[in-house]
Amino acid sequence: ASGGINTPALQAVEIVAHRGASHDAPENTLASVNLAWEKNTDGVEIDVYLSKDNQIVAFHDKTMKRTGGGTDLRIVDQTLAELKKLDAGSWKSPKYKGEQIPLLSEILPTIPEGKRLFIEVKCGPEIVPFLKADLKKAGRKADQTCVICFGSDVCRDVKQEMPELKVYWLSGQRKDKETGEWTPKLESLIETAQSIHADGLDLNANEKIDAEFVQQVKQANLGLYVWTVNNPDEANRLAKAGVDGITTDRPAFLRDALEK
Ligand code: G3P
Ligand code: CA
Repeated sequence: ASGGINTPALQAVEIVAHRGASHDAPENTLASVNLAWEKNTDGVEIDVYLSKDNQIVAFHDKTMKRTGGGTDLRIVDQTLAELKKLDAGSWKSPKYKGEQIPLLSEILPTIPEGKRLFIEVKCGPEIVPFLKADLKKAGRKADQTCVICFGSDVCRDVKQEMPELKVYWLSGQRKDKETGEWTPKLESLIETAQSIHADGLDLNANEKIDAEFVQQVKQANLGLYVWTVNNPDEANRLAKAGVDGITTDRPAFLRDALEK
């Protein structure tokens, strides 16, 4: 695929484990990331923020309420030392008690050869220099990491600073209940992706994405990834339509369910 990755091992649809193997293990922890690699996923997606002391950590929500020990403390107001004391595993299962919030720099060394980490930036462009430093220090090959973000400003800055990295702009289309129209229009998504020099789009999976839709994206020389699909029928439909990758909470289950 044009803006997708094109190594022989990944010619089939790329399976990306959403927040790690998050159906089975606590999302955005080393346990869920490593479990996803063990399940032979092609990619792992994580969410990242900058801590108060400018460390890049993996976490999804803005606060600690759901997955960080139950308080309403905000992640960006905590130092790394404070975050490291929290239990990010018990909410999922007592088996994961004491699982910590990981640094990006702890996740980067886990990426196996031929696989890649999708780093979703959940904060603003202030993270970019720190991201560049972490990636450089880890010495990962450029094709072992990529960046995704809903913020087009972040995508643009990442691409400017690290042109060798693939960047996919996250967006979503919604169907208007009254008019039946899908917004934003695909043409407008393509235009924005091109204007920020993104390598592709990463969209919410929906019924509008069919072979013609995929064709239109590919003609614009962009890759197309979709999130978050746990239903085998929907995954097969999207794979047949030609998407480059599918993000799922259940990488092994979905890989098995995809028609060969
Ligand atoms: O892969 C994109 C997807 O993760 C975006 O939604 O809320 O799960 O971060 P969210
Ligand atoms: Ca995400």
